[in-house]
Amino acid sequence: MAVFHMGECIRKTKQQIPLTNEEIRQLVRGITAEPPIPDYQLAAWLMAACFSGLNDAETAALTMAMRDSGQVMHWDLDAPVADKHSTGGVGDKTTLILAPIVAACGVYMPKMSGRGLGHTGGTIDKLESIPGLSTALDPADFLALVKKAGFAVAMQTGNLAPADKKLYALRDVTETVDSIPLICASIMSKKLATGADHILLDVKVGSGAFMKNDDDAAELARRMLSAANADGRDCTAILTDMDRPLGMCIGNAIEVQEAIEVLAGDTESELGGFCIELAAEILHMAGRGTAEQCLAMAKDAVTSGRAMERLAVMIAGQGGDASVTEHPEKLALSACSRTLRAARGGWISAMHSEEIGRASVLLGAGRMTKADAIDSGAGIRLHCKNGDAVEQGGALLTMYAAKESQLDEAEAMLRQAVVLSDEKPEAVPLIHRVVRSDSSARN
Ligand code: URA
Repeated sequence: MAVFHMGECIRKTKQQIPLTNEEIRQLVRGITAEPPIPDYQLAAWLMAACFSGLNDAETAALTMAMRDSGQVMHWDLDAPVADKHSTGGVGDKTTLILAPIVAACGVYMPKMSGRGLGHTGGTIDKLESIPGLSTALDPADFLALVKKAGFAVAMQTGNLAPADKKLYALRDVTETVDSIPLICASIMSKKLATGADHILLDVKVGSGAFMKNDDDAAELARRMLSAANADGRDCTAILTDMDRPLGMCIGNAIEVQEAIEVLAGDTESELGGFCIELAAEILHMAGRGTAEQCLAMAKDAVTSGRAMERLAVMIAGQGGDASVTEHPEKLALSACSRTLRAARGGWISAMHSEEIGRASVLLGAGRMTKADAIDSGAGIRLHCKNGDAVEQGGALLTMYAAKESQLDEAEAMLRQAVVLSDEKPEAVPLIHRVVRSDSSARN
């Protein structure tokens, strides 16, 4: 084996000379080795990668090496196994809706999820707002519940792609997060380690997302598909709008309430329709039928109540109070609330999702530092969305928090986040584009 020189890797990447597969493997091995590659050299390499880029082959090699830095899961189940990943958004509760739909249609979805990050929410925090529910499942219980409910949601363990964990922490403090190849390797190493045959990527685009425009999001999607295909996985990416929050609720308990509202039969709302489309895409990838059949199947799983039954089985299986599926009001919201009203009449031309996400953190729904506890009852319910007409004094949104002072702080930010105009804005579709493995795109 060739002698490994980290300095040489930094020089090559800086000069856009591709690293070999072996160099990338050794570099990743060095991240978790004892002694590890020093942080100053890793940081220099990350910055070189940010400025000079990595080609597709290097990105795929980095993804695989990071995947192999920890546990790689394998599922021995009697039906296809699918996974879905969102690159992080505001109000994004799709996992809570689409996993039960997909499970009700005969496709397994063992989900490893994370907590909220910055202004974006996390599925684990949302689920933990259900009284009694635990996401710290041991592997045997996780598998047993996946077999019984068709899906389960566990907290991502430190043993999944540990090289990414270390690298991500370093990227976070060295301004090297916003690199497409590095984001691709970070996300896909964890996705590939969770062992699903079919992977649906929900790539968020807009002010509230990592990717601020369609071109960057399409490039990230293309890289992620290329890494998934290099590992023999079936993968589709959907580019979705994050210039507005997803759905009408932002927070934890309040988002679980909204997910339950959709599963109770609301297939017509923007959120309901979106989740059904995503679920249908997964069913189609898993070979459950034609695109039209899969759409009908996903809708039927909701209207028949079968998806809600799956959610109840999963909640009970994870120790939670499954009666919340019939009584979502049991998911308590924080004691203080205030409704923001329009200062003038007009059309809602923007609802800046990043500011709305940050305001939800101020209300207590997210964390300022890693050690903070969250208030599961805090959050925001929107009463209107982009393109809606409002009259002067009309309700824009209601905030929930434990303390009045939190409402004051969030109100100032939310007043900036909601923009009114004199003209009806052009409607922007929620799904911008679908990118499939053969690089075909629609929309
Ligand atoms: N999410 C991740 O897991 N990694 C990134 O680099 C960005 C978002």
